[in-house]
Amino acid sequence: MRAVDIIIKKRQGLELTKEEIHFIIDGYVKGEIPDYQVSALLMAICFQGLNAKEQINLTMEMLHSGEKIDLSSIQGVCVDKHSTGGVGDKTTLVIAPIIAACGLKIAKMSGRGLGHTGGTLDKLESIPGFQIAISPENFFKQVQEIGIAVVGQTANITPADKKLYALRDVTGTVDSVGLIAGSIMSKKLASGAHSILLDVKVGDGAFMQTLEEAQVLAKAMVNIGNSCGRTTVAMLTDMDQPLGEAVGNSLEVIEVIETLKGRGPVDFTTLCHEICIEMLLMTNFAKDELEAKQRIAMVLQDGSAIEKLRQMILYQGGNPEVINDYQLFAQAKNIMTVKSETSGYIKKIHTHSIGDAAMLLGAGRKTKEDIIDPSVGIKVLTKVGNFVNKGDILAQIYTNGKEEANALRMTQQAFEMTKEVVQKNQIVLDIIK
Ligand code: URA
Repeated sequence: MRAVDIIIKKRQGLELTKEEIHFIIDGYVKGEIPDYQVSALLMAICFQGLNAKEQINLTMEMLHSGEKIDLSSIQGVCVDKHSTGGVGDKTTLVIAPIIAACGLKIAKMSGRGLGHTGGTLDKLESIPGFQIAISPENFFKQVQEIGIAVVGQTANITPADKKLYALRDVTGTVDSVGLIAGSIMSKKLASGAHSILLDVKVGDGAFMQTLEEAQVLAKAMVNIGNSCGRTTVAMLTDMDQPLGEAVGNSLEVIEVIETLKGRGPVDFTTLCHEICIEMLLMTNFAKDELEAKQRIAMVLQDGSAIEKLRQMILYQGGNPEVINDYQLFAQAKNIMTVKSETSGYIKKIHTHSIGDAAMLLGAGRKTKEDIIDPSVGIKVLTKVGNFVNKGDILAQIYTNGKEEANALRMTQQAFEMTKEVVQKNQIVLDIIK
């Protein structure tokens, strides 16, 4: 077999065989096929696409390129959740305690943020003392004992994806449904959960800007997951405005705690509940939506959901007192306000810009080496469709001075106003099973 023939075949729009996909991925990981040939193939894939069979074969090749997490020693049903990333997306930290309190097991490996989107690990590290690096033995023990762990990735899973993703990043080939689906699903399959809930974000602050694009990606991922014997459901959810109010690490964890206490922002609370409902249904932990809602309401009311968060913080070395005393989080020196310059309806919130502004303040990273300031961020206090008067507060900027003027300007400009009545955004746009 020769790489060049496989490149030409894909350029002509023909289906690649399992053996050909194996030849390329295996050869690339071993360093036998050079970057320039794989780049050419990736570009051909971007133009010609991959059909369902090719997507599954690519996913399996990447999955088998590295270690796989074996969760079979954990008794019970292990679920995983993946978000394609957004602004103010802290859902994992609410969902995981709720579903663990309902009796499911969540052994989750999360990532860090880059660019305008935040990462769960950075949020968790804003809790004083919290450790995201724990040994595999302690990880399994923790999930077995309390049903919940959220950690950084230690095992060498999907090295083929790591190498390919780095190449895609610099060759303009990230943007292909088959490649994205294979990349995400190979990692999810390697993480070992029996059931996988995918939260595919749609809108200005997300990878997928339109519902149609997101549906194609979601269907591809659900098909891969189900074909590999894992129950997989995708929810398509709104990212045309920041999720909840808080964008920035400590601010987001405080919002998580408030939500578990029943005082979270409506959009964020609704999304978390909807995701939990799907998770309980897909694992047969609830026979219907009504029962799922009752179970969720129960663990929130009796305090067992927030108790799961407390236990996880304690097991992972953090100070659980943060749940009662928000002053224990690092505090920003200054809070500045962004006020509406006119009266009218909020037509659009440029979510990507809010994410970028928070990053400039120090809540996120421009490059992998940047250091996060956990205390800074932005609170977006209004939503698309709301009426505001001139002078009303639209957002608050929590700052320690870094790039403050730019962040303020970007946040101010992120709000588009109109005199016309504007429809409020729907949070769950579609569910694909
Ligand atoms: N996230 C991933 O993990 N992989 C992609 O290809 C795109 C987003």
